[in-house]
Amino acid sequence: RIPTTVLSLKDLEAKCLETLDPMIRDYLYDGAEEGQTIRENLEVWDRWLVIPRMMRDTSNLSLAPLSPQFGKRWTLPLGIGPSAMQQLGHPDGEKATAAAAKEMGVPFGLSTFSNYSIEDVRDAGGKSVVALQMYLLEGRRDLNVELIRRAEAAGYKSIVLTIDSPIPGNRPGLVKSNFILPKGMKLRNFSDDFKGPLDQSSKSEVAEANPEVETSANGNTQANGTHNTKKQSQLLVDTSINWERDMTWLKETTTKLEIWVKGVLHPLDAEEAIAYGAKGIIVSNHGGRQLDGCISALDALPAIVKQVNGRVPVHVDGGVRRGGDIFKALALGADFVWIGRPIWWGLHLDGKDGVKWVIETLVKEFRVVMMLMGCRGVGDIKREMLVAKNGLLSM
Ligand code: FNR
Repeated sequence: RIPTTVLSLKDLEAKCLETLDPMIRDYLYDGAEEGQTIRENLEVWDRWLVIPRMMRDTSNLSLAPLSPQFGKRWTLPLGIGPSAMQQLGHPDGEKATAAAAKEMGVPFGLSTFSNYSIEDVRDAGGKSVVALQMYLLEGRRDLNVELIRRAEAAGYKSIVLTIDSPIPGNRPGLVKSNFILPKGMKLRNFSDDFKGPLDQSSKSEVAEANPEVETSANGNTQANGTHNTKKQSQLLVDTSINWERDMTWLKETTTKLEIWVKGVLHPLDAEEAIAYGAKGIIVSNHGGRQLDGCISALDALPAIVKQVNGRVPVHVDGGVRRGGDIFKALALGADFVWIGRPIWWGLHLDGKDGVKWVIETLVKEFRVVMMLMGCRGVGDIKREMLVAKNGLLSM
């Protein structure tokens, strides 16, 4: 279903946009406020150029990451990060994405707010389904405990705690297009009574269902005292999340799973994460959807890698669109790279096979980049192979 004239992720994106419903397009692309961070995420790669070496016999190339991640050796240092409500892209949603990950030998992270359940996605994606992404829910830790138990029972490897979202960012697109989950689509990790945090329909319903909830001057609904939040139909992320209370709670609650944190942009937060027992760090600005004007993950990466100093794996996401981007992220010290939006383009156009197309294309591109760079394996990728754009090569 993907035409042979489509050769790159950029082509695929253009093709996808020809038929994507405007509300879903707004949901997928929406960045915080003016989109400065989204632009940064896409442009930052071009601020680095690579310096290849020649004549190094790359006929026996391996793309595999240097060390296992989530207990497994993957095809390449690339995974499919958590993005919510994938049925908006295709009826098979997360099941298709997870099945594609399995067939391509890459890991998959499931969002808390998925349209298919923890168990169904694990059935579709097998051992590729390594991570359950988690938001800590306001007034409903009981639901978080239930999700953790289910992930443990289903054989997940980790909980990835997203730490950059005490509230959703200011996303004008969602409001303008009045984002509402279409009828029949459900957040299947929860009972039907609940709506996700981005659902605009819940704004009025929360007030109706609970007379003690007030609508404040800026239009946000606020519970009048925490004892009322249990009655809310909209699941909200806990605005009071903090290292000490919540990492301690998560460590005590989680028995078998590794805890990772996603959304680190400062070396001292990486330090906090490690101090509280995180087994891995994902440097990320949430695809520019949370805080506008914030640093790109790639620009934050080297300082974080230096701080972490090999104690835990450091992964990165945001704006990865080409095989060469994977190379640059690794040269700047990342152990592994994740993608968000690109899988949606494939998913929308051709379900599971479309997602496979995205991964296959990145594998092909990364292979060619590695050979042209004179690298026989990921261990050959070095910081000295990059020069800042407009900089001169020095010895
Ligand atoms: C996301 N992302 C995200 N992250 C998370 O921790 N939990 C979530 O539920 C979601 N949901 C979500 C939905 C959609 C539509 C997108 C595009 C993104 C963020 C995601 O995991 C990742 O950080 C970014 O998408 C990476 O940037 P790129 O690859 O999209 O540029």
